[in-house]
Amino acid sequence: MTVGERVVVRYRLPQGSEASATDVLGMLRSRDEQSLVVDSAFGQVTIPRRDVVAAKDVPPPPSRPGPAHQRVGVADLELLMAKGWVAVEQSALGAWLLRSAPGFTGRANSALPVGDPTLPLDRAVDFVEKWYRQRDQKPMFQVAGPVDFDPADDEVGAHLLGRGYTAGVGHAAGERVHVMTAPLAGLPPLTEQSPPVTGDARLQPEWLMAYGESRTVVPGVTEGVLTGSRGQLFMSVRDEASGRIVGIARMAIHPGWAGIFGLWVHPEHRRRGIATALVSAIAMAARDNNMPSVYLQVSGDNTGAVAFWEQLGFTRHHDYTYLAPADA
Ligand SMILES: CC(C)(COP(=O)(O)OP(=O)(O)OC[C@H]1O[C@@H](n2cnc3c(N)ncnc32)[C@H](O)[C@@H]1OP(=O)(O)O)[C@@H](O)C(=O)NCCC(=O)NCCS
Repeated sequence: MTVGERVVVRYRLPQGSEASATDVLGMLRSRDEQSLVVDSAFGQVTIPRRDVVAAKDVPPPPSRPGPAHQRVGVADLELLMAKGWVAVEQSALGAWLLRSAPGFTGRANSALPVGDPTLPLDRAVDFVEKWYRQRDQKPMFQVAGPVDFDPADDEVGAHLLGRGYTAGVGHAAGERVHVMTAPLAGLPPLTEQSPPVTGDARLQPEWLMAYGESRTVVPGVTEGVLTGSRGQLFMSVRDEASGRIVGIARMAIHPGWAGIFGLWVHPEHRRRGIATALVSAIAMAARDNNMPSVYLQVSGDNTGAVAFWEQLGFTRHHDYTYLAPADA
């Protein structure tokens, strides 16, 4: 269990109580040898370690109707996904997240303005701008909203546009990124026809080399981001004849959720089911670890990949776009 995460703790009640044990759900405030402190909806609860029967991290709470992969809110899913792609340097401004990993991905080099920054909006944005300028970087904000949202309808988006920021610039991924989710149960299993998939908890040089064929890597920074989550698995498929890795994907592991990053198949090996096998292998690992929902992020202009995800049952949960000063 991690301090700051949502947890559930079952603990014994004193003798003579009506029940022998009870559960508390809330944010883990602190933990030490003696006790766990949980901020629950009913106040702070201090639980002596000796009374703890079971305890675990749990997924974000539902905030809208539907199955688990749809009922998570936009902000909660954004914060969860940020833990699947951790920048080499991160700071918090209240609930906002400031991230830097020079030269490697928009997500790891932008502020995530969800929740309360604990400052008035204009001062919070001033703070973020200064934070990036101190690092010799242009400020950039990852603003999320409902599918096809207009950043002008978002409070932070509207404020940034008013300051001269432009949406959809400063990032190679184009105008808009789709966050897509699916229930694990709908993903296809590996079959005897599937190409063999290898999973490794460590990032191997060969996997990284294959990753480098799909995008620009920044030595030292890329490895830090790829291995920066609390849990990740590196999946790969090799070409039988040459033994070379021709398909890769990275799985991020969260309570109740699996994340898919970096899916790529060598152009000469596409449309042979390699990506499907990689996703099936991730689904298998997710099934073994009780993660019923899966997310990914795909650039809206990547129509081939969007079609791939849709035929697997993924639907759009929400979108995000990057806002940066017009000169960035
Ligand atoms: C998207 C990508 C991973 C698909 O890999 P793949 O191994 O060719 O996919 P599969 O063979 O498992 O495809 C399964 C099905 O998905 C759909 N599909 C896959 N690629 C598609 C495309 N470019 N256009 C439309 N549908 C596609 C098809 O229905 C396909 O079945 P079919 O070949 O019988 O028609 C691959 O094109 C790729 O590496 N693209 C560049 C990197 C990228 O965009 N990654 C995704 C980032 S989110």
